[in-house]
Amino acid sequence: MNNRKVIVKIPASTANLGPGFDSLGMALSLYAWIELEASEQTTFRFHGDQMQGLPRDKSNLLYKVAQLVFDEAGVSVPELAVSMYSEIPLARGLGSSASAIVGALVAANALIGNALGEDKLFQMATELEGHPDNVGASLFGGIVVSAWDGYRADYIRIEPHKKLEALVAIPAFELLTEKARHALPAQISMADAVFNVGRSSLLVAALAGGELGMIRHAMKDRLHQPYRAALIPGMTTILERAAEHGALGAALSGAGPTLIAFVDAGNPDKAGLERFLLDTLKQEGIEAETLWLPPCADGAKATVKDAGAQAGIPFMDRVKGDVIA
Ligand code: HSE
Repeated sequence: MNNRKVIVKIPASTANLGPGFDSLGMALSLYAWIELEASEQTTFRFHGDQMQGLPRDKSNLLYKVAQLVFDEAGVSVPELAVSMYSEIPLARGLGSSASAIVGALVAANALIGNALGEDKLFQMATELEGHPDNVGASLFGGIVVSAWDGYRADYIRIEPHKKLEALVAIPAFELLTEKARHALPAQISMADAVFNVGRSSLLVAALAGGELGMIRHAMKDRLHQPYRAALIPGMTTILERAAEHGALGAALSGAGPTLIAFVDAGNPDKAGLERFLLDTLKQEGIEAETLWLPPCADGAKATVKDAGAQAGIPFMDRVKGDVIA
């Protein structure tokens, strides 16, 4: 084990997909990389501006999650060299915290020869994150339909349709999930519950059956988006009118503030949809960045290398060499 260096590539994720609050997730082709190695002394190397404020001691989330895996497996790896680079923006609704949790679980498990099974990692990830939607997508890739009762999370993975592509508009401001969850009511009406059960069921059937034309009818929601609308000016207009601009459907990505629209990859006017999203947000005074992201079919993937052989190669070169290229 001491000679191993493990690098894990983890996809970002979009949760809820409209009506599937805390239960539907899709992996997106935007990534984080986490590297772990047993070491004489615990060290942290974070690459990229957005991670510079994270703790660099044993209170760090990656370190703590890795130790949970070792405890569960009954092994001791007290000191770790941890490196991370992420393309996934923080607190924007693209599953950055889920990617960190899943990456640390998968990396720590690979470091000890995969002592824990995938299902165990999913249970641990769900408990740590508090809901299974983002972690399921980052762990398994594709579209993940899941249900958690506080004890056990069950899931079924759906292969994303080849023609399905996503456009995300990422506003320049952060929105903490905690704040976006506080906006939700403690109770909803039976009519709204029935509305969401119907839409979410329809959406899962449409995604599983490749009925892309049904998505726009299925992506409607009354459980969380209407209550979060005040936190994301422009959201309601985008959700109501994206289909007029060629979207198959649109939703708030996770707890926001990112908005996501699904498109048929063959759509001839993708630029028109992109303009509509950016212009709508701009009218509200919000600058945003757009990215076209195909769904990612692969979940978090670990590559195990001999630490000695990799010793002279900088982490970012290993990310580029092993993973991106
Ligand atoms: N399902 C969660 C929510 C996702 O909407 O609050 C948060 O990342």
